[in-house]
Amino acid sequence: MISEALRSRATTLRRQIEEHNRLYYLLDSPTATDAEYDALLRELEQLEREHPQLASADSPTQLPGAPPSDRFENCEHLHPMLSLANVFDRTELEDFVARVHKALPYETVVFICEPKLDGLAINLLYENGRLIRAATRGDGSFGEDVTANAVTVHTIPRELDSARGKKHDAVIPVQMELSYTPADRNDVNPSLGSDVPARMEIRGEVVIGKKAFASLNRDREERGEIPFANPRNAAAGSLRQLDSRVTASRPLDFFVHSHGLIEPHAFASHSAFLAAAGRWGFHVSPRIRRARDVDAIMAYHADLAQRRDTLDIDIDGVVVKVDSISQQQRLGELARSPRWATAFKFRPRQAVTRVRNIVASVGRLGTLTPVAELDPVPLGGVIVSNASLHNMDEIERKDIRIGDTVVIERAGDVIPYVVGPLIDKRSGDETIFSMPSNCPACASPVVRIEGETAYRCTDRQCPAQIKQALKHFASKGAMDINGLGEKLVAELIDKRVVSGFADLYRLSKERLLSKEGPDAPEKIARLGPRSADNLLAAIAASRSRSLDRVIIALGIRHVGEAAARVLARAFGSLPALLESSTEDLTSLDGVGPEAAASIRLFFEDPANRGLVADLESVGVQALARTGTTSTAAAGKTFVLTGALSLPRNRVKEMIQQAGGTVSSGISARTNYLVVGEAPGVKLSKAGKLGVEVLGEADLWKILGRAEPPQ
Ligand code: IVH
Repeated sequence: MISEALRSRATTLRRQIEEHNRLYYLLDSPTATDAEYDALLRELEQLEREHPQLASADSPTQLPGAPPSDRFENCEHLHPMLSLANVFDRTELEDFVARVHKALPYETVVFICEPKLDGLAINLLYENGRLIRAATRGDGSFGEDVTANAVTVHTIPRELDSARGKKHDAVIPVQMELSYTPADRNDVNPSLGSDVPARMEIRGEVVIGKKAFASLNRDREERGEIPFANPRNAAAGSLRQLDSRVTASRPLDFFVHSHGLIEPHAFASHSAFLAAAGRWGFHVSPRIRRARDVDAIMAYHADLAQRRDTLDIDIDGVVVKVDSISQQQRLGELARSPRWATAFKFRPRQAVTRVRNIVASVGRLGTLTPVAELDPVPLGGVIVSNASLHNMDEIERKDIRIGDTVVIERAGDVIPYVVGPLIDKRSGDETIFSMPSNCPACASPVVRIEGETAYRCTDRQCPAQIKQALKHFASKGAMDINGLGEKLVAELIDKRVVSGFADLYRLSKERLLSKEGPDAPEKIARLGPRSADNLLAAIAASRSRSLDRVIIALGIRHVGEAAARVLARAFGSLPALLESSTEDLTSLDGVGPEAAASIRLFFEDPANRGLVADLESVGVQALARTGTTSTAAAGKTFVLTGALSLPRNRVKEMIQQAGGTVSSGISARTNYLVVGEAPGVKLSKAGKLGVEVLGEADLWKILGRAEPPQ
C-alpha cells in the first residue's frame, strides 16, 4: 500500500510539471528555473521508480513537452520527437558512459559532444529534397504545424541540394575534427543519385542570436512594446505567430542537431549525417567535437561553459551522443528519451550581492510574496535587481535577512532566486523581515489563513490585486488581449480609467487618448493613436473567447486550463456554472474537491456574480465550444492516429462538440483510439493497453452521424 501522502505528492508534482510545461512550451513564458523544473521532474521520477503503482503512461515523466495548442493545425511526427535525460556532474556522466559500454560489450564507442542550444525544437519534413512541413515538438508525437512561419527563416532551405553547402563553407562543420571524409560520403545510398534521401525529418533548434535579440528588444521598446525576456522566448514566440509576416521580420536562425525518419536510411554515423546536413545548406554548430571517454567529455564541457558568455547563441549545456547509428539502434530508447544520448547542463550562473530590502508584493488572489531588492549585479548577460523569496517559510528556512550578502542564481534565464546568505559576511546590523500586518498597496489588514503558508490581503478592491487579476484576464491563455501588458494595466488602474474586467469593454479611443476626463484627468502616457486602435481591436476581439477561456480569465483559485475545459463542456454557459451545486461539480472527472469548493466560494460572492453579469452586459459571449453532450462520445477520451478524411482539428472539434475529449497521448485511461490511414505506433500501444480501436466509420456512428460531414 502506498501512503496517501506519497500519492498526493505525486499528483502535486505532476500538476506542477504540467503547468511548467504549459508555460514553457505553449505560452513561451516560463516561471520556474531549469534547476527547479529538473528537481520536480527528478523527484517524480524517483517516486515512480520506487513505487511503480504511481507510474502511468500519461505521466509527464513519460511525455516530453506539452500537448500542442489549438492555435495551429496539429500534425503527427513520423518518428516521435524525444527529449533528453540529464546528467549533472562527473559521477552521473560516468554512469551514463558505463551504461553505454555495458550494453555494447567489447565495442569501441565514439561520442559526439555538441552545444545544447537553447531555442525551440522543430521538425522539418523533406520529400525529395523539398520542404513539405515544419512542426514544433508539441508532446513528442503531435506538434503544431508552423510551416508558413518556418519558410520565412532564411536558414531553413526550401529545397536541398548537395551542391548548396559549398557556398556555405563557413557553416560546414569543418573544424569539428569529424569533418566528412570520402568514407562518410560512401555511407550515403548511391542509388539515389543525389545524397538527399527521399524522405526525411530534419530536426534542430530555432534560435535568435544575442546581438540580434538585443536590437530586436530595442526596437520593441521604442515602439512601446514589451521586450522579450530572453532569446529563447523571442525565438519561440516568433515562430509560433499566427501572422507569418511577423515571423519573417524576426532575425531567426536554425541549427540542425538530429533527425527523425530517414528513408532510405543513408548514414552510418551521426557525424556523417551532420556533415551531410552542412553540405545541404543547413547551419550546423561549428563547435561539435568527438570524444572517446569521460575525461574528454568533461574537458569539452568545461571549455564550453567557460566560453558560453562569449558565444552569440545561448547554450545551456552539452549534449553527448553515441556516434554510430547501429550502436544507437542497439541501445534503443525509453519512453521519453534515448539511451544513446544525454544532456549535461551547465551549472546555473551565480553571483554575490547584497539584500537592500525585502518588500511584499501583492498577487492576483491577494497573496503577499516577499521579494528581495538587491544591489544590482550582472548575471548571465542581464542586470539582476530583484529576486523572489517565495514565502515566509523559505525566508526562515534559509535565514535570509535584510542587509545580508547573498548568493543568487539564475538558470535558464528566468527569475533569479536567492540560494542563501553568506553568514560570515554578517556585520550584526542585518534585520529580520516580517510580513507587514497591513497590505503595502491598500493598507487593509493582512491575514494568514489556517494551514496555509501564504499571507493575504483581504480587500477585494486592493489596486495591486486588481492589477494582477486584470493582467491574468488579458493573458495569452485567457482572453488573450494583445498589447495589454503589465505596465499599461498598472497605468489604467492607477489613473482610474479601468477598475474591473468589464470596464475594458467600455473604453473608447477618445478616453484612451484624452488629456482631460472627469475621473481621470491624466493622459495615458503609453498610448499613441495607433496603439489605441490596436488595443481597442484586441479588446473587441476578445468578446468572442470561448467559455473555457473566460472561466480561466475569471481567475478562480485551483481552476486551471484542464478544469476550465471540463466545466465549459459540462455546463455550457456561465449562468449554468453559476448555479451549479458542489455535487454537480465534484461529480465531474477533472474537478477535484478543492476546485469545487473554490468555485462555489467564488460564485457565492455577490461581487463575483455581479462581475459575471457585467461581463455579459458588455457583450462577452462566453460561448461553449461544446454542443450536445448526449451522444455516446460524452465523457469519453479519444486519441487519433493516422490520416483521417477530415483535417484533424475538425475531427477534434466534432468530438469535443459531442462531449468527448481528445488527448494526444495514449494511456490506459483512453477509451478509443481512432485509426486513419497509415497509423503511427499508437496502434500497437492501444493493443498492449487494451484500448478499443475505432475505424473512421465507427467514429461517425459514435458521434451520432451517418457519414462524415462535408
Ligand atoms: S538531440 C533524441 N542535440 O534539447 C534527442 N537536442 O532536452 C534529440 N537540443 O528536444 C535531440 N541542442 O530541442 C539534441 N545539440 C543538440 C541539442 C538538442 C538543443 C534540444 C532539443 C531537444 C532538447 C532535449
